[in-house]
Parts: sequence; structure tokens; C-alpha cells
Amino acid sequence: MPTPYADALRHFNDRNPIRLNIPGHGADEAAVPYLAEYFGEQILERDVTPLLPGLDVGKDSPLAAAQRLAAEAWGARRVWFLTNGASQANRIGALAFGGFRSADDPVLVQRSAHSSFIDGMILSGIHPVFLQPRIDEEYGIAHGVSVAELRRKLQENPKTKGVYVVSPSYFGAVADIAGFVEVCHSAGVPLLVDAAWGAHFGFHPELPQHPISLGADLVVSSTHKFGGSLTQSAMIQLADGPFADELEALVQRAFMVSQSTSMSSLLLASLDLAREALVNGEERIAKSIAAAEDLRTRIREDGRFGIVSDGWEFPEIVAADPLRVSIDVRKAGLNGNAVLDLLVSKAMYPEISTHSCIVAFVPPGREPDWPRFLEALGSIEPAGPLAYSAADAIGLPQPGQLKLTPRHAWFSPTEVVDAADAVGRVSSESLSAYPPGIPNALPGEEFTKETIEFLRHVAATPGGFVRGAYDPSVSKVRVVAD
Ligand SMILES: Cc1ncc(COP(=O)(O)O)c(C=O)c1O
Repeated sequence: MPTPYADALRHFNDRNPIRLNIPGHGADEAAVPYLAEYFGEQILERDVTPLLPGLDVGKDSPLAAAQRLAAEAWGARRVWFLTNGASQANRIGALAFGGFRSADDPVLVQRSAHSSFIDGMILSGIHPVFLQPRIDEEYGIAHGVSVAELRRKLQENPKTKGVYVVSPSYFGAVADIAGFVEVCHSAGVPLLVDAAWGAHFGFHPELPQHPISLGADLVVSSTHKFGGSLTQSAMIQLADGPFADELEALVQRAFMVSQSTSMSSLLLASLDLAREALVNGEERIAKSIAAAEDLRTRIREDGRFGIVSDGWEFPEIVAADPLRVSIDVRKAGLNGNAVLDLLVSKAMYPEISTHSCIVAFVPPGREPDWPRFLEALGSIEPAGPLAYSAADAIGLPQPGQLKLTPRHAWFSPTEVVDAADAVGRVSSESLSAYPPGIPNALPGEEFTKETIEFLRHVAATPGGFVRGAYDPSVSKVRVVAD
């Protein structure tokens, strides 16, 4: 099995090294007894510092070979292994686009970008023009943008230097990447796709194609999500497309300023192993596709709950990831967020909930215990806080107007005001309801009454959390000083 980096790391200890460098534990049980007892010796032995000949130094190193194999697996020209998540990949993408062509030329950005891309815009100074995604009003979730909307926005903004979209969505809705590529390339601009949730795409004929194979120029991949590597390991992938030469140098520079000088060998090895598992994973993926379909069938036959993706008839959605099962619990009179909390108290962990649904993920190779899960779900009655109430259905707010670039707003003098007094003021922060972590207010955007009400509502919901909030209840917010 060709896993060059993981293999080299496995053999690192063969020569009984005398470790006089970092990490300080030195894989020495006497030095860190708690660590060794907790994690096991093998993890410590394989946790080594970067810049070691025979591991990661030079073009012929095992790490370089592992990255080449990853490029081959996804059909990319080049892949960078990352140890700070797809969040780092998004910041790299934003920095690369920031340095591409003129600094003042706009980038079209899907408004429902993950907060890490917004953070990247603060770092890079990108001037965004937003592409509005389809909002599924019934369930309060954001999907993708349409090809027609992208074409219209490119015509309205002829100086656009790049386009950033998200596909698949948190809920597994897949956008028309091939259509975006055609429109972008005929306008002479590169397409960056945040496919954080699609690392597994293309590794089974029943899965959607991966954006790289559809011609996207740069792709953000959260390999630890559906790709099976360890948490926080990720990749950014560059296609062999028309902008590859320019983008490669920019991505490399952005990688250098965003990557730790102490990349975790454990995370890197996990990327190498996960890639190999995906390449040889068709059978295991088939089992998970069947398991997810089995859950959908049982739910449809039972009839008490619904399947959210059954109702997806939007032009912005061309496919659905079969490994995600979105269950409409409102149909049974239940509140999705309260259902998720109850399941968690029984050690069952769906990935996400909204007021109306919960979403179960079945990543490659997994065949969860459905009878136990369905028994728990089936026994929940709509009483007390578990009962759905129409007041729970607060819609996603329309974003406020962008008054300053995110970078300008973030670096401006700020003040903290009561949330009630913030309407009409310009936010200096990114505030995102979690999950899914899509900012509802951006630095530079005016707060609207709707946005404030939405964020306060989420903060007051059981399990609700607003990333970037000045205080947990969002009673105050930080704004650009007058
Ligand atoms: C669309 C999207 N992009 C990027 C990220 C960041 O990924 P990571 O958690 O690997 O940093 C996420 C995280 O959920 C996401 O949903």
C-alpha cells in the first residue's frame, strides 16, 4: 500500500533514535507518564518535529511523495497538506485571491461562505461582491447559488478577478460546478470552490463528481470531515487549469504565512492514510451509501418523520450527497434542536439540527446502528420543550448592506453597544450562528433589526451558539466607532 509519509513515520523509531529535539515529550514515558498512559506509546513515537531528512525534507521526501499521490487521487496538479483544517485552506484561498491581479478588483463571494473565508477576507483585503445563495425558507437553510445568478453578477462586475462558491452545502446540496466553471472561464476568472464537505466526492460512481475533476481551479477540502483523516487535517487542491501557474505561486506564499512551523506529523500521516483508504474504498463507500439509503427508506416507510432532501426542487441544486440523511422532525411535532439535545444525552450524535430537522452523517465505511437510533428517535414525544412551536421558525435574516470592506471594518476603531442600539451601525466582527457557522453579520455590514433578532434567538436556543459574539447572549455587539 503506497502511503510513503505514513510508512516513513512508522519506521522512524526503528533505529532507536536519541531524541534531543522537540516535541519535548521525546516519546519518553518517564518524561511524560500521563501522556504515554493516556495516548499509548505509539502515538508519542510517531509525533515528531518537522524538517527531518527521510520524512519531509526536499522534493523527493516521503511527504512530497504523499502529496503527489493525493494530487493524483483527486486529479489535481498540486495538493498541499494542511494541519489547521479547511479553515486554513479558506484563508489560503482568500490570500491567494487577494494577491491575484489588482488589489481593488472585486471577488464574487457566496454570501453563505464559512466564517473562515470571511476571516481570510479580513487578512487579504478582498473587496467582496456577494452572490446570494438559495434560501430554503421552509427549513431555514442556505444552499448554493445558480449559474444564472453567477453569470448576471459577472456581467454587472466586469472587473471581477475571482469567484468563490461553496459546494456541497452542510446539508449535502451540490451546486452546478461544471456550469460555474464554464461561466468563470469564459469570463477569464478562476473559480475557488469550498468543498470542505466533499472530500469523498468522486471515489464512488454514485457520489457526485469532485469539483477538481469538473474544472474548478482551486478547491478547499476538509479531509477530516468525510475523508476519514484525523480532526484538523485538510488539503487545498490546485487544478491543472488555465490559471494554475499564477495561482500556484500565490497559494504557496499563502501556505507559508498560514502554516505552523511545527506541522503535526500525526495529522500529515492521517492524510496520507485517508487518501489511500478513499482510493481503495469503493466497496466500503458502497456499504455506507446503502446504510444511508436504508435509514431514509425506514423513515419514509414509517411516515412519522420526513426526509428534507426529498423536497429539493431548486435550480441551484443539481445533486445531493447520498451520505447525509436530513430528517424532518417537525412533521412529528418536534423541535429539531431539542431532539438533537435529547439524542446527545443518550450518546447519539447527529451532526446538525435546525428548529425543524436533524441531519445524520454516514461517512465512508460507516454502517451505524439504525435500530438503536430509530428506537430512540421514535420514542420522543412532542411534549414540553421538545414540542415544535411556530415561534421557533425564525427565518434566516437578509444580510445588511456592506458599507466597508471586511478588512477596513475589522481594523477600524470599535465600540461596544447594546444590541438594541446596533441597528444601522456597522459590525466590526463576524457573527455566525453555529451550526452551520455561516456568518449572519460580517465586518463592514450594517446590522439590521432582523439580524440582531435572529442572533439573539439562536443564542437563547438550547445548544445554540454565536461564534464571534461579544457576549454569549448577544446582548451587546462590537461596532465600528462613529
Ligand atoms: C463550508 C465549510 N468550509 C470550511 C470549514 C472549515 O473546516 P475545518 O473545520 O476543517 O477548519 C467548514 C467547517 O465546518 C465548512 O462548513
